Amino acid sequence: MKILVTGGAGFIGSNFIRLVLQERTPWEVVNFDKLTYCGNLENLKDIQGDKRYRFVRGDIADRQLVDSLLAENHLDAIINFAAESHVDRSILDASPFMRTNVEGTMVLLEGVNKYKIKKFIHVSTDEVYGSITKGSFSELSNLSPGSPYSASKAAADLLCLAYWNTFKTPVSITRCTNNYGPYQFPEKLIPLAISNVLEGKAVPVYGDGLNVRDWIYVEDHCRALFEVLEKGKPGEVYNIAGSSEKTNIDIVHILLRLLGQKQDMIDFVKDRPGHDRRYSLNDRKIRKELGWKPRHDFNEAMKLTVDWYREHESWWQRIRAGEYLKYYEKMYLNR
Ligand code: NAD
Ligand code: DAU
Repeated sequence: MKILVTGGAGFIGSNFIRLVLQERTPWEVVNFDKLTYCGNLENLKDIQGDKRYRFVRGDIADRQLVDSLLAENHLDAIINFAAESHVDRSILDASPFMRTNVEGTMVLLEGVNKYKIKKFIHVSTDEVYGSITKGSFSELSNLSPGSPYSASKAAADLLCLAYWNTFKTPVSITRCTNNYGPYQFPEKLIPLAISNVLEGKAVPVYGDGLNVRDWIYVEDHCRALFEVLEKGKPGEVYNIAGSSEKTNIDIVHILLRLLGQKQDMIDFVKDRPGHDRRYSLNDRKIRKELGWKPRHDFNEAMKLTVDWYREHESWWQRIRAGEYLKYYEKMYLNR
């Protein structure tokens, strides 16, 4: 089996590729990534010499390049992780989100049709459903995205379903909750909080800190994607949940405890505009139909995660030495 992984130099994509090479030994992987500010080949340094792995730099929205890539490689499946993924950045400038997340997905769908690729997995998010006060969203719930990021992801999901309806393009969509684990770009809450604390800085918490997210260890998400790739049905949507809902302030308290720091290293900053209050998914379908369930306990996996960032300081320090947080300081800290 030969698969194309788009966005494989990012957080989830790099964890997915590593797991494929470890656990699906006959598979070959082509990693197609634009290497935007968060695409980092250092995430895959350990597998660079593997003969089953090849990296190609490029943009999923570049029709000609995608066409020649698909013509050259006889692919069995594509799994699309490539995206602009950070909500705060989408509030400052939505245009790269529209180009990559919407137009890029359309270019891939066209390629799947033209080259008759048998499987296309589109990696989406719980954020497409919007916020929910009580209960959980199922795959049949309406989409009600609340940020430019989630609107771009919802648009891509609808495009995938429309291609299935119109052309029988063999696409399956996954919608997962918040991931954490190794190699997450340190602009997201958990790696940002850990690296701030390790540098002796307070953790910025938006608004009252009572927004709720459901957290899943990245390896459990990757294993759910294996199930969808191997057993999922075309035209279907699969929710993937961590079943670990926490307020942001709880997450920060847990991290401070694991890092052995005082609970007052917190800086309440202004709220994210349009900040979704709570995300929650019902994932009975993937559990029942594909037999998936998360393997990791939340507390143990959080400890593994903190240990990983402690042991890989040079990885995040190199990233933090760059300019990547300038937008953030302007938006939240009025600098
Ligand atoms: P990430 O931002 O860490 O990585 C995205 C990768 O895509 C980077 O390597 C980047 O260089 C690449 N990329 C961006 N634009 C591209 C383009 N035009 N062409 C080719 N490559 C491009 O993101 P992530 O957190 O690993 O998320 C991966 C996917 O999973 C995204 O589609 C995201 O919406 C989805 N998702 C993420 C989470 C989460 O908690 N992180 C949860 C659910 C779903
Ligand atoms: O739910 C899945 C989504 O999770 C993915 O689709 C997105 O790609 C991913 O970025 C993530 O989105 P969130 O906005 O939930 O993640 P983030 O880490 O940015 O924020 C998590 C929560 O913490 C959110 O309520 C905002 C808050 N927050 C975030 C940061 C960066 C803070 O309070 N302080 C911070 O400094």
